[in-house]
Amino acid sequence: MKKIAIMGAMPEEIEPLLNFFGTYETTRYANNNYYTTVYKNTQIVIAYSKIGKVNSTITASAMICHFGCEKLLFGGVAGAVNPELHVGDLVVATKLGQHDLDITAFGHPYGYVPEGAVYEEADASLIEIAREVAKEKEIKLKEGIIVTGDQFVCDNARKEWIAKTFNADALEMEGASVALTCNSFGVPFFILRSISDAADMDASFSFDEFMISSAKISAKFVVAMLDKIIND
Ligand code: ADE
Repeated sequence: MKKIAIMGAMPEEIEPLLNFFGTYETTRYANNNYYTTVYKNTQIVIAYSKIGKVNSTITASAMICHFGCEKLLFGGVAGAVNPELHVGDLVVATKLGQHDLDITAFGHPYGYVPEGAVYEEADASLIEIAREVAKEKEIKLKEGIIVTGDQFVCDNARKEWIAKTFNADALEMEGASVALTCNSFGVPFFILRSISDAADMDASFSFDEFMISSAKISAKFVVAMLDKIIND
């Protein structure tokens, strides 16, 4: 039986999924809950990692090494960097980088991962499936660069610096660490985000207002992705 991981960072990002599947078993592992269910003859493992790069690395690693997931789908919310993106819009990562990783003192570019690169590429076939889902359901889906850091960005100057340095479309706090984890283990992954704020001085208010509704938009798309992956 195929085994697919679905991750979010916060409880609100996986709650719509748990509601959709209805019944699931809860397993405690590495200080977190993992919810397992069987859907259309496929095993699904769901978890929220808790916020940040370290937490998301632990959860993605557990999904792969402990639970044996062969693909990983991540859904959640993000701050918009590209001014074309507005609250509720969906963005899928083509590649991801860490905007707060800085060893420029040794001649490397911002975001450079030792013995790696600035960006991690997402799986092309999962992005293609996302394109098909978006087309069939007539949903606007932006493909772009998502950057990650251990900071909630609520400052225009920081946002502009990130935009310029990484050519980023959206930012959040888990995607690039999940990407690096999955690519290290050779597991195809997909990172989807729905915009909750514009990473500006109003970001925390916008986040509080729209996080739940944007998380639902993202989760709904992830379920449609799952259906297509299973049927393929
Ligand atoms: N996730 C959603 N909005 C964000 C922001 N402004 N900064 C970091 N992560 C986010």
